[in-house]
Amino acid sequence: MREQDFIPKQFLNKVEKGEVTWKSPSNIALVKYWGKKENQIPANPSVSFTLKNCKTTTKMEFQKKPEPSATFDFELYFEGKKKEDFKPKIQQFFERIEQYAPFLKDYKLTIDTENSFPHSSGIASSASGMSALALCVMSLEKELNPELSTLAEITNEAFFYRKASFLARLGSGSACRSLEGELIEWGEHKNIPGSSDLFGIKYPFEIDEVFKSFQDTILLVDKGQKQVSSSVGHKLMHGHPFAEERFAQAHSNLDKLKQVFASGNLEEFIAIVESEALTLHAMMMSSNPYFILMKPNTLEIINKIWEFRESTKTPICFTLDAGANVHLLYPEKHKEKVLEFIKNELVAYCEKGQYICDQVGKGAEKLN
Ligand code: PMV
Repeated sequence: MREQDFIPKQFLNKVEKGEVTWKSPSNIALVKYWGKKENQIPANPSVSFTLKNCKTTTKMEFQKKPEPSATFDFELYFEGKKKEDFKPKIQQFFERIEQYAPFLKDYKLTIDTENSFPHSSGIASSASGMSALALCVMSLEKELNPELSTLAEITNEAFFYRKASFLARLGSGSACRSLEGELIEWGEHKNIPGSSDLFGIKYPFEIDEVFKSFQDTILLVDKGQKQVSSSVGHKLMHGHPFAEERFAQAHSNLDKLKQVFASGNLEEFIAIVESEALTLHAMMMSSNPYFILMKPNTLEIINKIWEFRESTKTPICFTLDAGANVHLLYPEKHKEKVLEFIKNELVAYCEKGQYICDQVGKGAEKLN
């Protein structure tokens, strides 16, 4: 599908007012997206587990304006309070999706949003937040035009999610992987049919049961604001001395994961996932200017994880986002033992002893 396919052609219904609520999860990448081209096109393909508990709930109320106008009119509430400092990000999102959702300017919008995870936990809420908002926009489009697409190759329901993913990507790249479960791939890859730089797709190959209930315990090492934002980090991949090698490695890791996902080979899984996490941070440390987002406790935790894995032969591993927090990944059947290990050995390295228990989930839900 091409970008033009997402430009709506007609609106059959008149809609005066209404509201819609979506709850959408965060995701954790196994093969990382780091580096982008114009219009939020990824420099390399990525794949992620959709999470279950770390979610954003967004309600969007819409009321038709008495006169059409050339501006986006919206109010933004975060956890019930007006939040002016989030507005520029939403304004930018609306501007980026304008040609794909021109009807937004016809309405006065009230957007009310809240996260299931603690505010300023260092967990990025852009993936869950942007995907929830993109779904709200799609629900309004569907009211205006229940027959969303005239393309023969795709059902109405599939088009709804595909376009929501397409819109979410324009808000925050990795948000396009948050709408459905359990494994989502984003970015063109020659051996993955249907893969696209424009939206995420459900991973199209066999997935062993072990991955469908995989656990992700997020160890909150540093809850503060990151020193370098993801958007700056992505930009630093332009002219990065190792960029081309890194992008090629992501393609090759996706190839290797096909066998791993199908067979449930955890040893191989661990080797790829940990290498991806450390490569992401190695890219940060070798860009110009260079920067480090890991903290001493990030490394303490990684070493503890390696020791525990070695001594108990439990297949646990870590991955990292663009931050200091550690995502501890493991099969559900080892949950009890791993939680015990976390309490005994890892909590000491977490800020205020905090961690969040999450697991692989099935994607976003509509609430009303
Ligand atoms: O979606 P962004 O622009 O916040 O970038 C996210 C990048 C990583 O979280 C580091 C990797 C990924 O693929 O999610």
